[in-house]
Amino acid sequence: MRMLAAVMYEQGLPKPYERSEPFRIEEVELDGPGPGEVLIEIQAAGLCHSDLSQVAGLRKRRLPVVGGHEAAGIVREIGRGVVGLAPGDHVIMSVVSGCGDCRPCKKTRPALCENVTASRTQGVLGNGQRRLSRNGQPIYHYSGLSGFAQYAVVMPETLVKMDRDIPFEDAAIFGCAVVTGVGSVLNTAKVPPGASVAVVGLGGVGLNGIMGARIAGATTIIGIDINADKLALARELGATDVVSANDPDCISKIREMTHGGVDYAFEMVGIKSTFELALAITAKGGECIGVGLGATDELAHYKHAGLVTEEKAIRGSFMGSCVPTRDIPRFLQLYRDGSLPVGRLKSEQIGFDRLNISLDLLDRGEVVRQILRPHR
Ligand code: APR
Ligand code: ZN
Ligand code: ZN
Repeated sequence: MRMLAAVMYEQGLPKPYERSEPFRIEEVELDGPGPGEVLIEIQAAGLCHSDLSQVAGLRKRRLPVVGGHEAAGIVREIGRGVVGLAPGDHVIMSVVSGCGDCRPCKKTRPALCENVTASRTQGVLGNGQRRLSRNGQPIYHYSGLSGFAQYAVVMPETLVKMDRDIPFEDAAIFGCAVVTGVGSVLNTAKVPPGASVAVVGLGGVGLNGIMGARIAGATTIIGIDINADKLALARELGATDVVSANDPDCISKIREMTHGGVDYAFEMVGIKSTFELALAITAKGGECIGVGLGATDELAHYKHAGLVTEEKAIRGSFMGSCVPTRDIPRFLQLYRDGSLPVGRLKSEQIGFDRLNISLDLLDRGEVVRQILRPHR
């Protein structure tokens, strides 16, 4: 079929993106679904900071590619052999999907799946197939999803069924920001009740981290960002304290108010300086968790003696250590209960015509989650 999609031909184009237009909105060809694949009509797709990193070229991808890795939609057709899904089902498309067979998958850690990582580097689906093209030229899949499009052909492992009354624009955010932010707190760090937590970087992921910390029962939850509006929103969503990262005394203030640092410090920006900030505000015996993803080859530094004598732990959390079929229904229940009000993160719903300018807004930290509605 032919459909509209946002295609990236080149990474590293200059800002402002409104002018350089990293995404070209074009008619492309989508084949399938082949055996074991599913055709989804995309209803909503979130713009995540990782899309921005892609545009900036921080992590190389096979080009040209249809962008987008956080979406929700309706199953329209199922390929031969697909079980448990039917046309008309509403689904969340999750960027985490293991093969079920490799060593990490067998340990229920699909975010670390070896086979999926390989297929994504090649820009193909988990079964090695490519279903996108334009005028006979190949176009590749982004993260096995390519959600900035009117339709997508994906592997069933990337899909989690949801109730039909959940708005697509909220559901889309569960695919990446919710699993990453909430999952890092509940799954990776397993923050216990009464703990003290800090979150550095209060975007879509970081604000989910704040909400996750409240769900975990953390009693001190400190939000840190350079943007005053984000600090205010963090307070509304559960932060007990907020500190501006622009404050030159940010570290000493936090160490003072927590009597030596927090039990769990989460880095949710994806740059070296904020990781160092997170580590500096981690208490003795505490854990510093890197969630934000920056350039592939960036190094961070720490004082080794301090790590040893203060028994600090540094660990990474990728996609919130989530198992989508276990965690997304659990997080949707929290959303229904009102403890995970992801609707509060929506800044704006946009059409394809605003996609490039929305990259500029995200880059300037002026928005939280912009949602593309590809059929508008
Ligand atoms: N100190 C503190 N906060 C900062 C700083 C800084 N030096 N620089 C930027 N920020 C804040 C921004 O103001 C913004 O609120 O970090 C936040 C980043 O939010 P988003 O751009 O919405 O990013 P998000 O989609 O939440 O992703 C965050 O997680 O999955 C990864 O790749 C993703 O690395 C990215 C991170
Ligand atoms: Zn993302
Ligand atoms: Zn696997």
